[in-house]
Amino acid sequence: MTSALLEVRHLRVEFPTRHGTLTALDDISFDIAPGEILGVVGESGAGKSLTGAAIIGLLDPPGRVAGGEIRFEGRRIDNLPYEEMRKVRGRSIGAIFQDPLTSLNPLYTIGQQLVETIQTHLSVSAQEARRRAVRLLEETGIQAAEQRIDQYPHQFSGGMRQRVVIALALAAEPKLIVADEPTTALDVSIQAQIISLLKRLCKDHGAAVMLVTHDMGVIAA
Ligand SMILES: Nc1ncnc2c1ncn2[C@@H]1O[C@H](COP(=O)(O)OP(=O)(O)O)[C@@H](O)[C@H]1O
Ligand SMILES: [Mg+2]
Repeated sequence: MTSALLEVRHLRVEFPTRHGTLTALDDISFDIAPGEILGVVGESGAGKSLTGAAIIGLLDPPGRVAGGEIRFEGRRIDNLPYEEMRKVRGRSIGAIFQDPLTSLNPLYTIGQQLVETIQTHLSVSAQEARRRAVRLLEETGIQAAEQRIDQYPHQFSGGMRQRVVIALALAAEPKLIVADEPTTALDVSIQAQIISLLKRLCKDHGAAVMLVTHDMGVIAA
């Protein structure tokens, strides 16, 4: 037995192309312990995003895990059927991407999105889900959360949207969050705030983080 939350062993990701097979990740191994923050730094094209995508089961086809294995709480997750993996994603592993608009649906209020995520993964009433959603928004530093919860993503600034995405990633109380360049699209002036928020909230909620960035300043923080 091992105490790791996530174990990545000899991971290989390939893209079949017309000109042969492109091996994008070759023999990647690492662990993340419960509550640990792991920083993954490297130059553009190094394979950071693919590593995160393989873990959350969202490699773009025809990309595929061609070797090695990924275990979450000891259970293999790299070969799960799509529906099974969809349950793991969100419930056990949350994701935060560079552009907050990737994670938010423009047609729904942020409250609807938070409540839906909470109710998909946790058995709580609609009323309780909304109460939790407001609390999460408050925790992420959104002022007047009771009112703002009924607004749409476009009514928030970029930094505020990324706070909403952090709330959404934490909504189902996952044990691991994969954050891929979560501050790269934001103003430099608010990048440090978002990183410290992410750190504090994950600590409060007991979530581990795989923090992907090309920015040494972000890793230093
Ligand atoms: N859809 C794709 N098709 C073919 N090759 C890809 C694809 N996505 C990524 N790659 C390859 O994988 C490498 C790593 O990509 P990525 O994980 O996005 O890098 P990083 O996030 O470190 O900048 C890229 O240099 C590219 O060669
Ligand atoms: Mg990347």
